[in-house]
Amino acid sequence: MNLNILVLPGDGIGLEVTREAVRVLRVVAEKWNHQLTLRAGLLGGIAIHKTGGPFPAETEKMSREADAVLMGAVGLPEFDNAPPETRPERGLLGIRKSMGVYANLRPVRSYKALLDSSPLKNHLVDGVDMVIVRELTGGLYYGTPRGIFDEGDAGPEIHAVNTMAYSWSEIERVTRMAFELARKRRKKVTSVDKSNVLEVSQLWRRVVTKIAPDYPDIELDHLLVDNCAMQLVLNPKRFDVVVMENMFGDILSDEGAVLAGSIGMLPSASIGARKASGVWTGLYEPVHGSAPDIAGQNKANPFGAIGSVAAMLEYSFGLTEEAAAVNRAMETVLNTGRVTADLRPTGTPATTEQAGKAVCQAI
Ligand code: IPM
Ligand code: MN
Repeated sequence: MNLNILVLPGDGIGLEVTREAVRVLRVVAEKWNHQLTLRAGLLGGIAIHKTGGPFPAETEKMSREADAVLMGAVGLPEFDNAPPETRPERGLLGIRKSMGVYANLRPVRSYKALLDSSPLKNHLVDGVDMVIVRELTGGLYYGTPRGIFDEGDAGPEIHAVNTMAYSWSEIERVTRMAFELARKRRKKVTSVDKSNVLEVSQLWRRVVTKIAPDYPDIELDHLLVDNCAMQLVLNPKRFDVVVMENMFGDILSDEGAVLAGSIGMLPSASIGARKASGVWTGLYEPVHGSAPDIAGQNKANPFGAIGSVAAMLEYSFGLTEEAAAVNRAMETVLNTGRVTADLRPTGTPATTEQAGKAVCQAI
């Protein structure tokens, strides 16, 4: 198969972790005889520095030409006080919207070797295996009107507005994705909302309830988001596929990271439409951020990025055997204890590069 991939390392540790992810991709391509075509592009703070904007037209063009996009992370501390529209993060929101990747799949699972890395008791975490399906191109992140309205004065009358808006079709397509995914898993969907307060959530619940009969084999339940936040740490094994709007998913997936032992472990797959070629439009990125505090030190955990490569192989290209091999190789390395500093290594922590090379070896 020809794997035509755009790599967007982005900022901070994004560079280091995507380097290892690409190393793994090359090994997979060689072993299974796939032809790999890699291009690199700019996104985020580095794109602002080099082109003046976080999501250059050239990057947008390349993202359309590629079969799949692998991203590192975006964000630089020098932009901490900048308004949202000029920040590196705007590049990420731009590419998600432009590629139309409306369903963000964030698998959260426990690894035996990492049970002690989680602050939760082992018996709660052992066996956790869920996928958070986060709506990614709607809600508060994109709704208008938005802005800070100061009407020329800087007094107590200043107000700021963001808008949470969803259409029926936006809710329907992401929840259908969740139901389809559940069919390949333990056949359970939990829909998360705040329907006791928000109209958007009432519509969300109405849509989910309406389409549920199309999936009679799937067990559905609804949880309010605040209760879900609590259940995630009280009884995380109850969850299989958990679907929710954009910002709820942003928040709860960081909470989910605690179950996996480190946010450095979490991959993500953002899926859109199926292309004429049969390949699914996909943007793959670790859940973690650019971590400027440890950038350039060769100590970031590359497993979130490598896991994102596995997700790419599986979801965009349908290469399940290759994807499973990558996941197995990561697990093998975890069991050796030679892992990066965030995972309580036995002995000297592995560097980012050593962890990446170890996964390649194990494949
Ligand atoms: C994530 C990140 C992004 C988001 C930021 C960097 C814009 O936190 O992917 O979870 O909020 O979506
Ligand atoms: Mn986040």
